[in-house]
Amino acid sequence: MNVLILGSGGREHAFAWKIAESSLCKKLLIAPGNAGTSQVGINVDINVTDFESIKKLALKEEIDMLIVGPEDPLVKGIFDFFQKDEKLKEITVIGPSKQGAKLEGSKEFAKEFMQKYDIPTAKYQAFTKNTLKEGYAFLESLEAPYVLKADGLAAGKGVLILENLEEAKKELKAMVADGKFGKASATVVVEEFLSGIELSVFVLTDGNSYKILPSAKDYKRIGEGDKGLNTGGMGAISPVPFADRFFIEKVESEIIKPTILGLKEEGIVYHGFLFIGLIVKGNDAKVIEYNVRMGDPETEVVIPRIKSDLLHLFKGIGDGTFSEKDLHIDEDTAATLMLVSGGYPEKYEKGKAISGLDDVEGSIVFHAGTKTKGKNILTNGGRVLAVTSFGKDIEDALAKSFVNAEKINFEKKYYRKDIGFDL
Ligand code: AMP
Ligand code: GLY
Repeated sequence: MNVLILGSGGREHAFAWKIAESSLCKKLLIAPGNAGTSQVGINVDINVTDFESIKKLALKEEIDMLIVGPEDPLVKGIFDFFQKDEKLKEITVIGPSKQGAKLEGSKEFAKEFMQKYDIPTAKYQAFTKNTLKEGYAFLESLEAPYVLKADGLAAGKGVLILENLEEAKKELKAMVADGKFGKASATVVVEEFLSGIELSVFVLTDGNSYKILPSAKDYKRIGEGDKGLNTGGMGAISPVPFADRFFIEKVESEIIKPTILGLKEEGIVYHGFLFIGLIVKGNDAKVIEYNVRMGDPETEVVIPRIKSDLLHLFKGIGDGTFSEKDLHIDEDTAATLMLVSGGYPEKYEKGKAISGLDDVEGSIVFHAGTKTKGKNILTNGGRVLAVTSFGKDIEDALAKSFVNAEKINFEKKYYRKDIGFDL
């Protein structure tokens, strides 16, 4: 098969690395990719939301399958774009339809869906500038901290958590009336704060049957001890010890099954990954968000643990045989450490030479923000490299990643040394 992956992060390098090893893979293209993906496939410099250029490429390269990494093209309807095109409709797209992608693209839609299908989530109401007064009243009925979520995509910045009621009211107004996040915050979901530990659960589905992938925990804050600003993710662990078989069975019956059934009931076409963000307290799990793609850096621990041929599973989604396929998982623990540019997630510099990659032993290095320049590999983003290792437990896996993280160098390299501290 000829496969095209859209995206340019660690997630897409992990997909490319896994797909490249499949006996079914004839040609592998990544758009736009990074220095890591160019080692296992061919990078093509096309933006992930430039559908017309993607179409041209897919036809020219006789692509059989499109794997969509990030949410943006999904929310903009790339699945439907392929389905509606006479020449593209035979191509298997791994990613949901535009309507399915609303689970991530509209927080209000996701909350209404959860309410309708009795899926446990935080109590909420949605407001616009016309219902600002009601919004203030709802905030007054809640206890601190206050959670405000821009309805639409806001580059991962659309969620505010505020300690103080007056500040929450001010921010609500800034979002709905003053366009704090542009159109994305014209509607805002205000919800109850849930305390507990976060867990990422992943499902692969063809809309009828589903397979539960390994769960993972990611570490979003820049600083050790989960302090400081939010990032895209500084590291991840899989499996998560508390998410044992019994716990996952409970999540399956209370959350996963009703979600897949709800999508079917709504007539929503959903092929691909569903990422369910949970807050767990004791034995209870509530959904804080759906994402319609894999997580990053969770992918860098989840994909290496999948022993089955991923392309074979994806092919089953396209030809209706998905339910017959097996999924085998490596029982060992995988840990990944994200090496980031100094200053990230605020201002940071790019274009720094990366050394030591050839000295890495016993870990897999997935590239995130990197690019090739002549013979050199340069930093090209805030999150630069994800160093993944396997071990018999978390400590064992992390120890290998730490050794290799020290061998790799670039100016102002930073990484957290306490990933997994709370497990
Ligand atoms: P989201 O973009 O929905 O993932 O939200 C970003 C982050 O905000 C999540 O990863 C959580 O850490 C936090 N968060 C979101 N909703 C809630 C909630 N209802 N209670 C507590 N924390 C939340
Ligand atoms: N690691 C969280 C995310 O991908 O959204």
